[in-house]
Amino acid sequence: MVRKAVLPVAGWGTRFLPATKSMPKEMLPIIDKPVIQFIVEALAGVGIDNIVFVTGRHKRAIENHFDFHPELEEHLKRAGKEQLLKEVRDIANIINPIFVRQKEQLGLGHAVLTAEPAVGNEPFLVALGDVLIDEEEKELERLLYLFNKLGKSVIALMEVPQEEVSKYGVVKVKELEKGVYLVEDLVEKPAPEEAPSNLAIVGRYVFTPAIFEALKRTKPGKGGEYQLTDAMKLLLEEEVIYAVKVEREVYDTGNPLDYLKTVVNFALRRQDIGEEFKAFLKELLEGKVKV
Ligand code: G1P
Repeated sequence: MVRKAVLPVAGWGTRFLPATKSMPKEMLPIIDKPVIQFIVEALAGVGIDNIVFVTGRHKRAIENHFDFHPELEEHLKRAGKEQLLKEVRDIANIINPIFVRQKEQLGLGHAVLTAEPAVGNEPFLVALGDVLIDEEEKELERLLYLFNKLGKSVIALMEVPQEEVSKYGVVKVKELEKGVYLVEDLVEKPAPEEAPSNLAIVGRYVFTPAIFEALKRTKPGKGGEYQLTDAMKLLLEEEVIYAVKVEREVYDTGNPLDYLKTVVNFALRRQDIGEEFKAFLKELLEGKVKV
């Protein structure tokens, strides 16, 4: 049974500077909820409430976000804002956060290995903050269902346009049944002409603890960093890895343009502000509002 998740959150967020100079990129809001909270809520929703954050010196805001905040709660209580009070309490209540410091940022693989003492010898999920998935709980449930059935690591994949493969880890697979694959090879951020397919790693993985041994054997790869994708390639020598294609929409939050598209998308679907925002966008595009 998978009881723990590892969330690597120690990156600098250089693509969002200067916003991320003193604020973790994972705290960037999709309107009024930090990106990381969407992921944590989905994990809690599938019963994974031991969350190992692999964090760094400049990430204190994440620790505070998943903790109680007595002064704020007292203020909300006195102001009679019961709903908000419940929301801020729930953020701290739904998980058991564990913080591990990654002293040097040597890559995603290194970040996951840093979590080993907190994970121990049991399977675990890894979720990256760069993407959000519609109805994420359902996708996580599929990953966990396959893991429980097959007993080996399972990763989530999505189809991307060929010219975008160089942004992702890309896999060579054999389809076992519709949307379920056996992984045959993996390559981190290949050039489009070298990519074995256009199936990209989404950033949601369920691993057997054997990944830790593979990570220890991994040498620096793309960008001189210890890559998780390279460790999976080594893991393949010992164990099979399965993959499943996500069925729902994936939203990129890892760079300013895609982040903005995600915010607009989520805003349009909000019950409270969606209609008004849509009318505004329409007027804007028709040149009726000054830009
Ligand atoms: C990381 C992984 C990559 C994966 C991607 C998904 O890359 O290294 O294999 O496809 O996340 O978002 P990053 O986006 O951190 O450069």
